Amino acid sequence: MKDDKGQSESVESRHLRSCEASLDEWKGGPVVVVIFGGAGDLGKRMLLPTLFTLYREKKLAADSYILGAGRRAMSDEQYRGLVRQSLERFGAEAVERGEIERFCRRVAYLEADVRSDETYTQLCRRIAQISSQGRIKGLIHYLAVPPSLIEPIIEGLFVRGLCTGSLEPKVVVEKPFGSDKASASRLNELILKHFKESQVYRIDHYLGKETVQNILFFRFGNSIFEPLWNRRYIDHVQITVAEDIGIEGRGEFYDAAGVVRDIVQNHIMQLMGFVAMEPPSGFEANLVRDEKVKVFRAIRPMSDEYIDEFMVRGQYGAGMARGEAVCGYREEEKVTSDSNTPTFFAGRFYIDNWRWANVPFYVRTGKRLSRRVTEICVVFKQPPLRLLGRTCDIIEPNCLVLSIQPSEEMSLQLNVKKPGGGNEPYAINMNFDYAKSFEVKSRPAYERLLLDCLKGDLTLFARSDEVEAMWDVVDPVVSRWESAPARDFPNYDAGSDGPKESAALMDAGGRKWRRI
Ligand code: BG6
Repeated sequence: MKDDKGQSESVESRHLRSCEASLDEWKGGPVVVVIFGGAGDLGKRMLLPTLFTLYREKKLAADSYILGAGRRAMSDEQYRGLVRQSLERFGAEAVERGEIERFCRRVAYLEADVRSDETYTQLCRRIAQISSQGRIKGLIHYLAVPPSLIEPIIEGLFVRGLCTGSLEPKVVVEKPFGSDKASASRLNELILKHFKESQVYRIDHYLGKETVQNILFFRFGNSIFEPLWNRRYIDHVQITVAEDIGIEGRGEFYDAAGVVRDIVQNHIMQLMGFVAMEPPSGFEANLVRDEKVKVFRAIRPMSDEYIDEFMVRGQYGAGMARGEAVCGYREEEKVTSDSNTPTFFAGRFYIDNWRWANVPFYVRTGKRLSRRVTEICVVFKQPPLRLLGRTCDIIEPNCLVLSIQPSEEMSLQLNVKKPGGGNEPYAINMNFDYAKSFEVKSRPAYERLLLDCLKGDLTLFARSDEVEAMWDVVDPVVSRWESAPARDFPNYDAGSDGPKESAALMDAGGRKWRRI
């Protein structure tokens, strides 16, 4: 479309909401949030402090109510004590005591045996009581519980009519969402028997990170990169999720899960989805999720031979982390001494569609690596004709680095002329630094996700077909590795950059990993 000066105008997506108010100024009605697992680790570390922040900032309406449900016998007053402690310990900023007390008055506790009918009768009664005192407008069931408890909770809620009704209940489900495609499908079937897809919020906290959402803003808010964003200009893409921590006392969970289920199936797939998806026709939940699903479905299925050649597994041995001697994975608590569980993954994926045919996506992630860094590096092809420098000079490829954490930056590596008489190319960086530009820290991921759940915006939550498509990608790797135990574990030292085969994976293609 042309304007009257003959310049091209952009067309608005018909899904764009035209609205004068800032997108931040959202004021919803009061809700009841039931947290199953309300006294557990996630509740204390994340959910209660986040709900408190939203309450302080008036994004969670003042008359809302939080009902913690847990196995432990506790009075409302005792639970409020736990809430106070968790806010003091994990709340982001020092806050006024009065505010904590006001929040605590909106908190109660329900002793819950999730397999007993009586629990749901009580729950119903409590919700009815709360609703009769205020003008409650919504109900959120937050399942911060191990996967085995999801089924009895959903069935219990259903029997008491808590999946439907005028409060339009929503259900939030934490990861891990199943342990393979079959179990994820069963879980979806169970949930969708009683809830509609539009009521289900499957959490992947990576999607709540500002810098992850920024991938979409960077791609679809600028016109200069999208024409280059394809097989013609991009040589390969690297995705790194490196952690310097170990398994942090989660031996029981981790030894059964391993790195592929813990990080690749969800966080890394989501990053790949955002980098590789086609522009959606609007920024609405299903339009965005449709495009991601297409990416996952286009990932080339992997045979055992391919996995043996292009997927690398590792497990850390003893070494140094953050200047301290640390034990190997097999010596961690609740891990078996001959464990075959991988704590490191590196692999090469292909997305078989027109945009990405034959562009390798290299992925690596691991525990107890040298540094904590999550980043995406898009490496562009070399110029078609070499004009500059001498044959021995290295012309670094243009790289676009999207740093997700700990630094929150975007940088574009370009070649310029090195000062002086020669014709020597020199690589420099153009940089955008989130903290410097905005002078604020980016907000915790859970804040954004809980707010979106209150608003009813599903864009940053995984849909059932999306979760299953992600399992489809990784299932063959998990089963190959479970059926053929590694003979060389442990094969990297804590504090290193992972097993040497990971570097070899890149060398074989004449490429190299960015430094961790
Ligand atoms: C979780 C994994 O989903 O993500 C953990 O279960 C991992 O093992 C964590 O440490 C990493 O999250 P972040 O936000 O620190 O990168």
